Amino acid sequence: MVNLQMLSIRFYSLIVASCLCTYAVAFGADPAALAKGKKVYLEYCKTCHMPNGQGMPGVYPPVANSDYIKATPKVTLIKEVVNGKHGKITVNGKVYNGVMAPMPKKYNCDDIACVLTYVFTSFGNSKGAVSVAEVRKACPKR
Ligand code: HEC
Repeated sequence: MVNLQMLSIRFYSLIVASCLCTYAVAFGADPAALAKGKKVYLEYCKTCHMPNGQGMPGVYPPVANSDYIKATPKVTLIKEVVNGKHGKITVNGKVYNGVMAPMPKKYNCDDIACVLTYVFTSFGNSKGAVSVAEVRKACPKR
């Protein structure tokens, strides 16, 4: 009886695990990278873009459901987040003209790849994962 229960628990775990994997493969992001990316997001990006990615009206643009993320090449987005960005920008129909500082040096290419993967596959975005190699290529000095 006990053995049978154990067996069914194992079977259940296997199903859950394979669902998680399918989910990760479907969105091109591995769960460990997403967890790390979320940590970096909550530690750094959320100050301006808010925990739910909604930003702050008129001041910080949303990264949630962002038509700017959708329309902009990945390599440009990587450069803007790493090196900083300022000047007029329109996101979801609203104009912003603020300053995003460069990402602090303490974040390495892996942190950057993970946080962008998290943002690009969360909050209603479907831009897909970002690899460490893509970050190195876009920002060779990092
Ligand atoms: C100090 C505040 C601040 C922090 C911290 C910050 N941003 Fe931004 N971000 C901005 C501002 C301001 C803009 C718009 C810049 C402009 O007006 O050109 C922006 C623009 C963006 C954009 C393009 C526009 C959009 O909303 O789709 C993305 C993507 C983005 N940030 C992602 C990130 C990520 C990822 C992080 C963390 C690694 C981060 N930002 C950290 C302030 C910030």
